[in-house]
Amino acid sequence: MKVHHFLEKKEKHEKIAMITCYESWAAVIVEQTEVDAVLVGDSVAMVMYGDDTTLNASTELIARHVRAVASRSKNKFIVGDLPFLSYRLDLRSNVVAAGELMKAGAHAVKLEGARGNLELIRHLVDSGIPVMGHLGLTPQSVHQLGGYRVQGRGAEEAERLHVECLDLEKAGCFSVVLECVPAELAKDISQALKIPTIGIGAGAGTDGQILVWHDFLGLQTEMKPKFVRRYLSGADLVREALGKYVRDVKSSQFPNGEESFQ
Ligand code: KIV
Repeated sequence: MKVHHFLEKKEKHEKIAMITCYESWAAVIVEQTEVDAVLVGDSVAMVMYGDDTTLNASTELIARHVRAVASRSKNKFIVGDLPFLSYRLDLRSNVVAAGELMKAGAHAVKLEGARGNLELIRHLVDSGIPVMGHLGLTPQSVHQLGGYRVQGRGAEEAERLHVECLDLEKAGCFSVVLECVPAELAKDISQALKIPTIGIGAGAGTDGQILVWHDFLGLQTEMKPKFVRRYLSGADLVREALGKYVRDVKSSQFPNGEESFQ
């Protein structure tokens, strides 16, 4: 998958399946599947480091995880998430942050919001860096939004979201994530845009979907947002395996002869 395939897939009405990915062994597994592209998201701060928000992810942290994923991912398109404020400084610093993720192995960067970002998006695209937009619930603005809430409800909000999506497209984004947006609105926007929309909590009318790895595997069980579908009961399976391991150790069933050096 390359950047131009995003548009091609939309034109052919082929849905795009994305998943977040943060580490090399997950990348090995993803590599062996039909998943189209991966996002090394700033959600890494929450799902791997236990933070309550994504705000503490740094460019260095994301770059570290991009490098881990890229080291084992040969054919997947890798998007690196620009973290909180890293692209809201001066143009030079913003470009440096994006460059760090590209040098670590990303094929594109993602940034949240349209307002105040359009000049940077144009500049990055002109500099050879593909940009994915992200609108609707933008988790880096969680305190401004008053929590993790559905966005784009009501005519005025919906219109604003619609216009901002078109702005991102005009600025040169190759795709845009729509997070926690009413399904009808996400569908309308997807139909109005030439570039594909990737939904998370935005219904089935977007051009693709993305899920967070730990939600998808059922590893994260403390909360289950409405839009998450767990494809595995990961936490249960790991707990069962650990229980068996402990029993085997305590009953001297592990290791056995074959697992020991004679
Ligand atoms: O960081 C992330 O995982 C994301 C997805 C929710 C789209 O931005």
